[in-house]
Amino acid sequence: MNQQPIPSITGWKAFRKTSMLKTDTIGFFVSQFEEFGDMFHFKLFGLDMYLLRDPALIRYVLQENNSNYTKSVFYKELEIMIGKGLLTSEGAEWKKNRRLTQTAFKKSSVEGFTPIFFEEAETIVGEWKGKTEIDMAKEMMQLTFRIVGRALFSAKLDKDAHIVDHSLGIALEGVTKRIQSPIKIPMYIPTPANLRLKKAVRDMDGVVNKIISNRINSGERVKDLLDTLIYARDEETGEGLSPKQIRDEVITFLLAGHETTSNALTWTFYLLSEHQDIRKKVIEEIRKNIPTTGNISMSDLEKLPLTGRVLQESMRLYPPVWIIERNTIGEDTIGETKIAANSLVSICTYAVHHSPKLWDDPEKFDPDRFLPENEAKRHNFAYIPFGGGPRICIGNNFAFTEAMMILASVLRVYEPLVTPGHKVEKEPLVTLRPKYGMKMKLG
Ligand code: HEM
Repeated sequence: MNQQPIPSITGWKAFRKTSMLKTDTIGFFVSQFEEFGDMFHFKLFGLDMYLLRDPALIRYVLQENNSNYTKSVFYKELEIMIGKGLLTSEGAEWKKNRRLTQTAFKKSSVEGFTPIFFEEAETIVGEWKGKTEIDMAKEMMQLTFRIVGRALFSAKLDKDAHIVDHSLGIALEGVTKRIQSPIKIPMYIPTPANLRLKKAVRDMDGVVNKIISNRINSGERVKDLLDTLIYARDEETGEGLSPKQIRDEVITFLLAGHETTSNALTWTFYLLSEHQDIRKKVIEEIRKNIPTTGNISMSDLEKLPLTGRVLQESMRLYPPVWIIERNTIGEDTIGETKIAANSLVSICTYAVHHSPKLWDDPEKFDPDRFLPENEAKRHNFAYIPFGGGPRICIGNNFAFTEAMMILASVLRVYEPLVTPGHKVEKEPLVTLRPKYGMKMKLG
């Protein structure tokens, strides 16, 4: 093969760029792709990183040759919080547990969850009565947490939502700092940062262990994901999941299943607040097609194509999972470039979704990009909010239906607008959060 060298940033040149990587992580990725093109090499502290923005190359890594890739070393840091659940496990263990948990996310299961999505959304909307201003980021975090708790574990987590919200913020910040830092102080050394992170994990564990022990002690059999995790037995060996494996799966689903959807919703409300013309059309669509009061069903949600496109466009501009990373197992050739074994491959979803090569006027909020005729013109790895290949988000339909229900439930009553003067800034932790929350007036 005629191998074309890709741009390579190493030594002092790479080191000088680390300050930007820390202070403006997303800006760093976006600007480097503009400078060096859709694939380049970056070497820092002995680690070879390959950064990709080309959809064909991304498909190669996530799908076509996925068996040569594991989740990146950075997911090891995430394991401090969530252990080895579906998000972080590999190989045979991942395959077995993906099969086991898949049933809870089938189309028919998600349809079965819509009454829960509806009831919880209506409860929160009810709690807003008499209030003029809310922090939408906080409200969405608690709402999506309650939903995932009820839908997957039949648990009422109203009180615990506050504990998790608080501890999760601390833990995500701690883990992100460890990911960004070249020197990772082992967790057994009691530095203030390690102690804070450990306490946050302990507090979240308290909630998780309560969910599991309440169910086991009650002896109750309910048809949900928790029942599957507790009682599933391997057909050949008769073995079930260990208590630690159950804990890791429950915490993985609780965290992966609420933080992401919450951010998607918060950014959607923000974008609607910023774009009066589209907001008016979305509200009109919802109020025309959804009953003014009472139940909202799955078939009602199907009457809201514009709202769906707004949600898609919001996840383009603000992808909740803004980066996906892998490590090569054996050496590989990506495009025309040879990659050594154990290199880091970094796919910055945010940069892909903002690439001027893939999107006309990429910073513009334009939901019509998701009209079927426009979607057909795009590479299917140009839009990857849920990742791709076999490790694609298991909860994508769950999240989309849930978010549609919440948008319908809120917007049939309220027209939330960002409070004048509230500072809006992206904070790329493990997910893309609004740094100062999202204060909104309930119009
Ligand atoms: C808008 C909301 C969501 C977004 C943007 C999102 C995004 C993602 C992405 C990008 C991945 C792949 C990560 C990688 O390849 O390294 C992923 C995996 C995963 N997501 Fe989601 N997610 C969302 C909602 C949910 C929900 C609601 C659940 C569960 C209730 C969930 C559970 C998971 C799990 C367990 C995995 C790991 C799957 C595996 O490796 O087999 N996610 N998600």
